[in-house]
Amino acid sequence: MLKNPAEKYRPYPPIHLPDRRWPNQVLRHAPIWCSVDLRDGNQALAVPMNVAQKLELFQSLVNCGFKEIEVGFPSASNTEFAFNRRLIEENRIPDDVTIQVLVQAREDLIERTVQSLVGAKSVIIHLYNSTSPAQRRVVFGKTQDEIKAIAVQGARWIHERLPRLKGTRVRLQYSPESFSATEVEFAKEISEAVMDVWQPTAENKMILNLPDTVEVAMPNVYADQIEWISRNIRNREALVISLHTHNDRGTGVAATELGLLAGADRVEGTLFGNGERTGNLDLVTVALNLYMHGLDPQLDFTDLNAVREVYERCTGMTVPPRQPYAGELVFTAFSGSHQDAIKKGLAEWAKARQPHWDVPYLTIDPSDIGREYHEVIRVNGQSGKGGVAFLLEREFGIELPKDLQREFGPIANDLVDALGREVKAEELRTMFWREYIERTQPWELHHFHADGVERLFECRASLRRDGREVAVTGRGNGPIAAFVDALVSAGAPPFSVAYYKEHALSAGTEASAIAYIQIKTTDGHTKWGAGVDTNIELASMKAVLSALNRL
Ligand code: KIV
Ligand code: ZN
Repeated sequence: MLKNPAEKYRPYPPIHLPDRRWPNQVLRHAPIWCSVDLRDGNQALAVPMNVAQKLELFQSLVNCGFKEIEVGFPSASNTEFAFNRRLIEENRIPDDVTIQVLVQAREDLIERTVQSLVGAKSVIIHLYNSTSPAQRRVVFGKTQDEIKAIAVQGARWIHERLPRLKGTRVRLQYSPESFSATEVEFAKEISEAVMDVWQPTAENKMILNLPDTVEVAMPNVYADQIEWISRNIRNREALVISLHTHNDRGTGVAATELGLLAGADRVEGTLFGNGERTGNLDLVTVALNLYMHGLDPQLDFTDLNAVREVYERCTGMTVPPRQPYAGELVFTAFSGSHQDAIKKGLAEWAKARQPHWDVPYLTIDPSDIGREYHEVIRVNGQSGKGGVAFLLEREFGIELPKDLQREFGPIANDLVDALGREVKAEELRTMFWREYIERTQPWELHHFHADGVERLFECRASLRRDGREVAVTGRGNGPIAAFVDALVSAGAPPFSVAYYKEHALSAGTEASAIAYIQIKTTDGHTKWGAGVDTNIELASMKAVLSALNRL
């Protein structure tokens, strides 16, 4: 890299818009969405989709609720043309869905494009030509006027052919491609020239798509460009202003959101941001960003995993694990403090203590988009007691008391750290069992019986201590106290029970109970124990011995 990048690169000049209004705006409703997966997304694939794959993805887009779908570039290949024909001839386009097709300003291509649309109910013909200084200079070697003439001629060729699409509702769209790198004054001039040909009205609007073909500046600059056009273009009310951002600087979503604040009506993009280079705008993210602020996005991602599956199968692309909303890891927390906060937040939400979703670290409820709480917490060496306790409770119904979580958390953490990988809930259970339930040395219970009334109990127990049989008896104000008395009489260090909790573990014939006991020795040491048995009394006695064995 250069020591002084200014020798090679220059800043993007700001747009003169001192009274810009977009920073004070608030989004209050969803834009019109247009998916360009089957065109822009498809163009970016090493192996473009075949007709069957395009049909499957088209259906999935319809199911998500897209009402405008750019289905291809029908003049570009036989596959693209055939796809259009299949959609139309097999009646695959719902009445409320409009297909859009892209075409350059060339008469033969426009002719073929129009042919591909015959018989459709509702279409958008999308004309584009590139307008930025670099494109004018390098690609076309043409002046602004000559570039404008290309657009005007293309618009005329389309206009002349409209009578051929009798019975079809036709709307027209123009994109000054590379708009964000084009002088705003020229973008306005060329767009108005196209409007002069198409003569849009407030009742029959034309779509003016303003692409951030390559992100060349910060998103606020794009917003300024959109607001500048929106305020300065002639006959604004006859236009639907549309955004089409790419993600070269990683801010496609931000540019779109600011562009909407700046007055745009419509957004083009793709599922999960597939598209040339760093991709198109990810529509899922923008839609769900609206959703998380309580706005109806007018798109349905209730089963986002299913959408993702179709997308991956059809495009051969994979959704990265950190992709907002859809990535495998986005509802997962590994760090202990995050896990703890999520666990508490979910518990609070389950008790309906908050009117609105406000769970730490989770911007939306994963279950709203078909993701599960199941995915929220996973445990590795970075995790803390919260994650461990959450998994044990969710998977096995083991409700560790808070203080026991504090004791077992670091024990589990050391074991997981030594493994150097993520562990499954089953492995955590095994660790818990080894540490507490299977602690039978030096004391092991064989038989226990207690009798009593009111607060006077007597017990008899047979135990194994260091491999030798021992029979003990004791008294206390309950079976546990009587057992403690028996153990201390038999030579265990004096101790008392500081905490006790039990609950059922599972239902049915296998029904068993788990007891947790914290003991405290006379010198102030505390230890936890746990016991499991089909008989709750025996589970408690086992828990006492587990704690004693761990002293
Ligand atoms: O990125 C772009 O500019 C495009 C146009 C054809 C709209 O895809
Ligand atoms: Zn594009």
